[in-house]
Amino acid sequence: MENTATNNSMLTAVNLSKKYEDGVLALDNVSFSVNKGEIFTILGANGAGKTTTINIFLNFIEPTEGEALIGGFVTHKEPLKAKQKVAFVSENVMLYNNFSALQNLDYFAKLGGNTSLTKDDYKNILLRVGLQEEAHNKKIKGFSKGMRQKCGIAIAIIKNAEAILLDEPTSGLDPKAGFEFISLLKSLRDEGKAILMSTHDIFRAKEISDTIGIMNKGKLVMLKKQDELKDQNLEQIYLDYMAGHNGELNA
Ligand SMILES: Nc1ncnc2c1ncn2[C@@H]1O[C@H](COP(=O)(O)OP(=O)(O)O)[C@@H](O)[C@H]1O
Ligand SMILES: [Mg+2]
Repeated sequence: MENTATNNSMLTAVNLSKKYEDGVLALDNVSFSVNKGEIFTILGANGAGKTTTINIFLNFIEPTEGEALIGGFVTHKEPLKAKQKVAFVSENVMLYNNFSALQNLDYFAKLGGNTSLTKDDYKNILLRVGLQEEAHNKKIKGFSKGMRQKCGIAIAIIKNAEAILLDEPTSGLDPKAGFEFISLLKSLRDEGKAILMSTHDIFRAKEISDTIGIMNKGKLVMLKKQDELKDQNLEQIYLDYMAGHNGELNA
C-alpha cells in the first residue's frame, strides 16, 4: 500500500512489520496515517496485531521493518521528541495508586514542566473528563477502569498532547461508561487531536471512527472512511474479511 501521509498527518505507519524473537510475524507491512482531528480505529480479533502496532508507536518495542512516526519523528529513532507529542491512555500505565486523582494530575503536570496550574484548574479538567467531584481526592487505587482512563485523558489534556493512543479503551466498560468515554474522545477529536485506538467492538468502532482499519493476522486488510461505510453492514464486512472472502489490501 502507498504511504498515505499528508502534511496533516500526526501518526503515520510506513510499511511496519514486526517479527518477535520467537519467529511470530505479528505485523506484516502495515501502512496508514491518522490526521489531526481524526479518530482512527483498528478493528481486529485477538492476536491480529493491534497492541503490537500501538506499542511500536509508543516505542515500547521496535519494528523489524518500516517505521512509525509521530508528528514527523520516527518513534524508534527520536523517541523523546515523538513522546512529547503523544499520550497513552490506559488503565494500567502511569498513574500512581497511592496518589489521589488531583495529586496525580499535579505530579504529571509538574513532570511535564507545567507549574502554572492551580487546584481549581485540575478540578475543572477532572470535571470536564467526567470524574465526579467526590472522587477527586480519593486514591486512584480504588478507581474503576473508566475512572482511571478519565484521569489518563485529563493528563493528556494537561500535556496538550497532539496525539492520543488507546488500546481497547471501551472493553470492560459498562454501556453508559463506554458511551461517555466515546463522547469524550469525540470532543478531543473536535479540538484537533489525532486519536488512534484499537477495539474488537464493531458497534463502537462504527459509532466513533472517522476511519476504520481491519487487521487480520498482522495485515491491514481493509481501510475505509466513515462515509464509505455509512450505509454498509460493518459486521458483515468484518466477518467476510476474517473468512478471507474480500481479499487483502496488501496482496
Ligand atoms: N512479546 C511477544 N512475543 C512473541 N509474540 C508476541 C508477543 N506479543 C504479541 N505476540 C504475538 O503477536 C501476535 C499479535 O499480537 P497482539 O499485537 O497482541 O494482537 P492484538 O492486540 O490484536 O490481540 C499474536 O500472535 C501474539 O501472540
Ligand atoms: Mg491487544
